[in-house]
Amino acid sequence: MLIYANGKWVEAEHASIPFNDQGFLYGDSLFETIRVNRGKPFRLDKHLDRMRSGMNTVHMDGEFQLAEIPSILKKFISSNQLENALARIIITRGVSTGTPWRSTADPAIYISSRSINEVTDWPVKVVFLEEKNYPILRFHPAIKSGNYLGNMLAKKDAEDAGAFEPVFVNRDGYVTECAIRNVFFIKDGILLTPALELGVLPGVIRDTIMELAQRRGLKVRESLIIQDDVMNMDEAFISSTGVGVLPVRWDGFKSEYTHSEVLRKDLIELFESGESYVT
Ligand SMILES: Cc1ncc(COP(=O)(O)O)c(C=O)c1O
Repeated sequence: MLIYANGKWVEAEHASIPFNDQGFLYGDSLFETIRVNRGKPFRLDKHLDRMRSGMNTVHMDGEFQLAEIPSILKKFISSNQLENALARIIITRGVSTGTPWRSTADPAIYISSRSINEVTDWPVKVVFLEEKNYPILRFHPAIKSGNYLGNMLAKKDAEDAGAFEPVFVNRDGYVTECAIRNVFFIKDGILLTPALELGVLPGVIRDTIMELAQRRGLKVRESLIIQDDVMNMDEAFISSTGVGVLPVRWDGFKSEYTHSEVLRKDLIELFESGESYVT
């Protein structure tokens, strides 16, 4: 695979990151995982908006670099002959120049990709984990930064507990999101998902699902959901660029997943259509 590494096109095994890149030294970076369907990036504009918003939050000045991403990604997709894949774009604050907290270097962009692992055997198990036990910083608006240690530790603990994914509960008892996914519930025909004000990542697929649900005539509510309420939900699923809509269960929860299955199919259809820029 050809990797794009800060202006150079290199085979993956020869790609390198400068030792003093701020992203490597301090996690001073942001990233996006973008779905490529039939050779086209799915909702690239939304991913770039989210990256821009993250850059504003961490005061990273890189409008020029952001503007270059669509054409670099296009070349990346064609050079690697990608049909269906997950492309990963990373922007770091670049090679450390001056003090680490005031580095004046230009941001650096890296692009790689991996294949999509379709999960067909659902519902998958989730466990509720307390956010306070993991080093997770919640900004509002939430950012997709290079600091994913808490998310990764929680994911590992969830797997050790026989689950596919953790679902976090914050200090106030509200459900927020998963380690690398958003979470949805359905109750009495209403689609519910934790509100962004909790510092939840505005998932590109989260947005897409809300649109698809509205098209299906479902009411959609971004709300505050306390953990005690989840047992009374009719359905539950998680969402991300990688898994799309994935129905979930936790110990003691049973569901027919009627609406979830419809939304899952609608999303797969949208992916398979190769639709890229619809908003
Ligand atoms: C913490 C977190 N929440 C939600 C998501 C889902 O976002 P998207 O739908 O854009 O893939 C991700 C994706 O990586 C994530 O890391």
